[in-house]
Parts: sequence; structure tokens; C-alpha cells
Amino acid sequence: MSTFRTIWTTEDRFIEVIDQRKLPHEFVTVKLSTYRDAEHAIKEMIVRGAPLIGATAAYGIYLAVREMIEKEEDGSFLDEAFSALRASRPTAVNLFWALDRMRNALDNCEGNFLGTAWNMAGQIVEDDVETCRMIGVHGLPIIEEISTRKKGEVVNILTHCNAGMLGCVEWGTITSPIYQAIQKGIKVHVWVDETRPRNQGSNLTAYELTRHNVPHTLIVDNAGGHLMQHGMVDMVIVGTDRTTRNGDVANKIGTYLKALAAKDNGIPFYVALPSTTLDMSIKDGLKEIPIEERNQDEVKYVYGKNAEGKLEAILICPETTNASNYGFDVTPSHLVTKLITERGVCDASEKGILELFPEFE
Ligand code: MRU
Repeated sequence: MSTFRTIWTTEDRFIEVIDQRKLPHEFVTVKLSTYRDAEHAIKEMIVRGAPLIGATAAYGIYLAVREMIEKEEDGSFLDEAFSALRASRPTAVNLFWALDRMRNALDNCEGNFLGTAWNMAGQIVEDDVETCRMIGVHGLPIIEEISTRKKGEVVNILTHCNAGMLGCVEWGTITSPIYQAIQKGIKVHVWVDETRPRNQGSNLTAYELTRHNVPHTLIVDNAGGHLMQHGMVDMVIVGTDRTTRNGDVANKIGTYLKALAAKDNGIPFYVALPSTTLDMSIKDGLKEIPIEERNQDEVKYVYGKNAEGKLEAILICPETTNASNYGFDVTPSHLVTKLITERGVCDASEKGILELFPEFE
């Protein structure tokens, strides 16, 4: 569907990704040659977004196996790689899911470690593409229904952060239904929350929607409630980094406030997710999901292009002011209208999830 993917393999069987810190101003790719490169890419948010973090970690393990063989290291080298990658970011469960899948494949293979790691990482990437496509297939009728109700007028969708293809491999989770709606000729317009402090909305979602010719408008993070009160939002759709067994949703900081405003205004609030983002081992999202805290400089400085066309960081508060920087918040399941998954749409509840994914019982 797209002209590029967010992660790919090179001719010499290394890995390449887009440096998302430089978008939308520069399209720069980064080669990952060691597992430390993959760890760095995740930690420094060269790559980000739950499914892409998982895919990068999977290829990080492939790179570790390759290094282990080339440098004639023993198994402890691989154990170190698993530990380093596990510690790279705390909230997105896809990271741990992908690493567990790699561990399981390596533990059960008969000798061909490198081939096994290569194939499994490749499969994680390919599966994500198909999964996101299917999220679109199941999410499309929701947009279609609103469009029909509005007699073909524009469907206004509000989103937060970037849960588009840049957070995945292709399609994206929230963008897949949107792209498929556009392909069907449905009129769609997206309100893009800028998503302070790292501005994934203005830097990434707006970039991605521009590339795909999707009409959109950038708004400050605090505008959503006002738009909802004035009938300018038909639905909210966001991604997630971890969704619990009972349907609590962790996503980028500020998501919860959008869900509250949506509830107050009777606007449906959807969460699009691949099943790899479900954490069936926990129930209570507020108590059990680890919330990442990042460097305060991300809050104190804004990063962008200056009048001379150079990228620079600008201090926006007194130098000595302390800032706090929680990366995510948890939206309780009772504020979520439905989950949109690759197998269909369900209630944000244990019963709803298990009806679609009985194997998670
Ligand atoms: O800190 P980020 O940019 O990794 O956060 C990303 C998000 O919160 C996304 O909404 C989420 O990972 C879903 S991506 C399909």
C-alpha cells in the first residue's frame, strides 16, 4: 500500500530504519549492524511506536546471533542482548512479546541459529503488515457507518500521537481504516493532536497523512475538548502501547483526557491495536502498567526547524525550572467504546477480548 516501510533488510543482511527524530524535515535512514545499534535506536526513539519497537528488537536479536557467531562468543552474549533490549523502553508490551517470540524460536531450533533468528524477525515484520491491513478491514465499516449517517459529508476523526505506519511497519493501526476509507472514496478529515512533548502528531502523523493525501488539521493538545463540544469530531481513534486483559489502554500521555472529553460529549472513542499489544498477564492498567518517565529536557525544549532552515532545540522555560515527563497514561476500559483488532471489533473487556482471541484464555 505504501511507497516505503519503516524497517527493512539490506543486501548484506543488516537492518535499516528511518531516523524518525528528523521527520518531517529530513528523511534520513540509519543502518543497524549490532544489537547495541538496535537498543540505541529504540532508547533514543530513532524508531518508536509499539509494533515497530517490537520489530526492531526482534532484528536486534538476529544481529546479536550474528555477532555471537562472528566473534565466537558463547550464549552469555545472547543473554546480554536479550537483557539490554528488554530494558530499552518499559511501556510498549510488543517489545517483550517480540523478544519472547525470538527466545522461544532460538530455544527450539536445531542448530541453525542465524537462519532461525532471521526468519522469525522477518515473520514478525510481515505479520505486522497483514495485521494492520486487517485492522483497517474491520475499522472501515465504523467510518462508513458515520459517513452514511452524515449522508456522505466529511467524517471528522481526532487522533493523538502517531499510531500510523511510522509506529508500525506499513498501514499503521489507526491509519489503516482511514487509508482504506479514503481508497473507498469516503470523505475523511483528521484532527491531529500535536502531542507534546515530542510532537509525534505534528512531526509524524501530519507527515504521514500529507504523504497519503489525507485532509488533516494540526491542533494543540488542548483543543480536542472544544472541538468535541462544538460537534466537530465524529469519532476519536488512538493506538496503544499495552492493553490489559480487562481492556485498560495505555497510550501516549494525554490520551486519557481525550477519552474523558469524548465520554462527556457522547463521541465514540476507539482503540486500534494488533493482538501483540494485548498483555493478558495483567488486569488493572492503572496499577500494573509501567509508565515510562523520560528526560525533562524533552519538556523544557522544543525541537524544530529555525528560520535559516536548521534543526535546533529552543528552551521554553526558565533554565532552572523542573519539568516532569511521563510518557504514557492509562485510559480505563469504561471510557473505551470498542477495540479494533485484526480479528474484528470487540468490547474493551476480558469477555470481549476472549471472544475474538480464545487462545488467550
Ligand atoms: O513514545 P512513542 O512515540 O513510542 O509512543 C507511541 C504511541 O503512544 C502510539 O500511539 C502507540 O505505540 C501505538 S503505535 C501503533
